[in-house]
Amino acid sequence: MTDKEFAGSTTPRIAADQLHAFVRAIWEQAGSAPREAELVADHLVAANLTGHDSHGVGMIPRYVASLADGQLQLNLHADVVKDAGAVLTVEGRKGFGQVVAFEAMEQGIARAQRIGICAVGLRDAHHIGRIGHWAEQCARAGLVSFHFVNVAGDPLVAPFGGADRRIGTNPFCAAYPRPGKPPLVLDFATSTVAYGKTRVAYNQGKQVPPGALIDHEGVPTADPKVMHEEPFGSLTPFGGHKGFGLAAMCEIFSGALAGGFTTHADTLGTTNAIINCMLSVIIDPAAFDAPDAQAEADAFIAWVKASPLAAGVDHIYEPGEPERVTRAEREAQGIPVDAATWTQICTAALAVGMHADEVARWSALLK
Ligand SMILES: NC(=O)c1ccc[n+]([C@@H]2O[C@H](COP(=O)([O-])OP(=O)(O)OC[C@H]3O[C@@H](n4cnc5c(N)ncnc54)[C@H](O)[C@@H]3O)[C@@H](O)[C@H]2O)c1
Repeated sequence: MTDKEFAGSTTPRIAADQLHAFVRAIWEQAGSAPREAELVADHLVAANLTGHDSHGVGMIPRYVASLADGQLQLNLHADVVKDAGAVLTVEGRKGFGQVVAFEAMEQGIARAQRIGICAVGLRDAHHIGRIGHWAEQCARAGLVSFHFVNVAGDPLVAPFGGADRRIGTNPFCAAYPRPGKPPLVLDFATSTVAYGKTRVAYNQGKQVPPGALIDHEGVPTADPKVMHEEPFGSLTPFGGHKGFGLAAMCEIFSGALAGGFTTHADTLGTTNAIINCMLSVIIDPAAFDAPDAQAEADAFIAWVKASPLAAGVDHIYEPGEPERVTRAEREAQGIPVDAATWTQICTAALAVGMHADEVARWSALLK
């Protein structure tokens, strides 16, 4: 659902700082150290602020279920198991992705600032959420980055030409920092729509765009229930054979290259855990001999934005701009959270031991 649609709806909203405090309280109740709870809240609320509700606070019930399964591990940290100078291999050990990815990026940023480039292979992290968050961390340090990610052992997407789920929604992300301007941030799932967006549509009783799903017999459908009720169907890869090819390279670069694992018959997950592996290549642009790089990038963006608008379009966006627009709107108006998602989050809060009165106090903030 876009924010324009939310604007006309009765979906209740909550201020970002209040939602952040609720998320922190849930994870501290579950046993996270305060810094871990803060990093998780930073990430989830930022995903909602940027309009990616699929990767926001609606993930909390799944994380709580993973914790109950003995999968998600609290209070672990990124562990550099091999340091080869410009290449770091980092073990996540199913620690909170919001912590181990943050720490892996910190290590990669420091190394790229020292020697110009660093490839970080993070393996076996619990869900690392919205990948743009990690690219923005690099961009804040003035660094370019590309990120290839797999969702290991959790196939939801059919291969191009296939009729059942074989691949994760494997996101690709790239960011380009610009001094004095926001970074360009390209960040997308290689499925036609992100899985979490089918959950949001399912919770809201809405259809997904045509071409995004097939049912269990491989027949196209717009009904998100095929992803949430048996017999399960599949997401389609975006862009036909090209999206499938990019998803495959995300799988290999992240899951195989750095010692993690790829999706196949021997690795299929049976729990609520979501395991991500990520290859991040982080580059200091100052290491190139390119005094005109920023001017060239700016000239290109201005050039494409000057294109005459197609019928029905009111704006040409640069990568990352839609998220900035949504962030500004939600910082001012609050974050919309639909009733079904809120109920699921409150149930998760109770499951980790939060008292019902406290849950009710937080719930009163959603208006
Ligand atoms: N951790 C995981 O396992 C995992 C798996 C899949 C996806 N994800 C995350 O899910 C999120 C959502 O992915 P998605 O595929 O739904 O994203 P999406 O389809 O909304 O595409 C987002 C990208 O397209 C750009 N964009 C959007 N509208 C545009 C427009 N009109 N003009 C120009 N550019 C535009 C955005 O700036 C952004 O870079 C991402 O943040 C991704 O990292 C995570």
